[in-house]
Formats: sequence, structure tokens, C-alpha cells
Amino acid sequence: MIVAPSFLTADFSNLKAEIESISGAKWLHFDVMDGIFVPTATYDEKILSEVKNYSHQFFDCHLMISDPKQNIAKYAASGANLITFHYEAAQNEMFEIIELIKQKKCQVGVSIKPDTNPEVLFPYLNELDLILIMSVEPGKGGQKFIPESLDKIRFFAGLKKIEDYSYLIEVDGGINLATAKLVKAAGADVIVAGSYIISNADRNKIIEVLENV
Ligand code: DX5
Ligand code: ZN
Repeated sequence: MIVAPSFLTADFSNLKAEIESISGAKWLHFDVMDGIFVPTATYDEKILSEVKNYSHQFFDCHLMISDPKQNIAKYAASGANLITFHYEAAQNEMFEIIELIKQKKCQVGVSIKPDTNPEVLFPYLNELDLILIMSVEPGKGGQKFIPESLDKIRFFAGLKKIEDYSYLIEVDGGINLATAKLVKAAGADVIVAGSYIISNADRNKIIEVLENV
């Protein structure tokens, strides 16, 4: 699987070294929170520009923000390779936002929260490069994996096979060695892992272990 480390719990006063400590990962996951869509606020597009100075990784940008449409352009301009926004923040403008992300030459992802019915994404499946299944309630790292997420992964993996869709399935929240094995077996292609990687003494080693579960 592709491993996309989330560095939310890293030491931001020492960011360059922190990013270097996870440089073995092909992807880097940016958790953008605005304090409105989710209770906490983290960082904005400026952090992408900064990290771009010392990372050549694939920038996987997860927007947990209430107004994705107004913000796509600045994340694209700051170096995002993939922009994922939340279905719950965009219900009436799904096609417009998807189109906007494509116009900016970024890959496009859509995320659903744990309580959202996966069928809401039916109309968009052909347009998506990635589906991000939240396996915790978005808002903070270090939470426990919600087991029902496995059904959603199986659901999208099954559809992908039958209909020949090209989206990747990414899973975010509560990933450790045990849950990584479960989501892989269910059909995940990409795992986001935050606290499990950041709390490990040898972060690049644990990334390699997760890649090969
Ligand atoms: C939650 C974020 C996740 C999270 C992952 O809102 O989207 O990326 O920080 O952290 P862990 O791996 O600690 O659950
Ligand atoms: Zn995330």
C-alpha cells in the first residue's frame, strides 16, 4: 500500500527535520482544518509552500474546511498534487468543485465522514482519482479506528472491480499495524497514519513496514 504520513502531531518548531524523518514515504498527507468544518484549526496553504522547499513527495492535501470551492486555487498554487475535499462541505457543488480541481491540474479526491452513506458518491465515481474514507471522526489525530469503515472499503473496492473505476481508496484515522492489515485485506490502496508513525522512534522504518503489510 501507499503510506501517507500525517504530521499533525509533529514538532512544528522543527518542521524541516520532522519532514526529513518521514522522507521515506512517497506521499505526504496535509490535514487542513479551518476550525469551522471541524472544531480545531491547523494550518493553511502556506505550509505546503514551506514544505515544498525540502520535500519532493506527492502532496496529498485533505481539506477539512467548510468552503472548499473558494480555496482550491490557493492549494493548487501552493503545490498540492491531489486535493481531497469533503462531500459534507460541498453537497450542492460537487461537480463544480471536481471540475475546478481538474482545471488546476491536480488529482481530485472526495472524503466522507464515518456517518455518511457511501452511496452519496455514486454520481461522481467516474470523475474521482481517490475516495478518502474517514475511519475516525475528522478533527484530531490519535483516535480509535471505527471498524464499520471496513464495510465502506469493501463496498468501494467491489464497485471499482465491477465497474472498472480508476479511483484509489484511501483510509484515514486510527491506522496502526493491526488496522493496516485489516484495511489492506478490505481493499485499501492508500493509508494515512499520523500518531502511529510520529510516535515511533524510527519513523522511516515503520513507514516501510506499513508499506509492506
Ligand atoms: C483526522 C485527520 C487524520 C488524522 C490521522 O481528522 O484527517 O489524518 O490526523 O491521525 P491518526 O493516524 O493519529 O489517527
Ligand atoms: Zn487526513
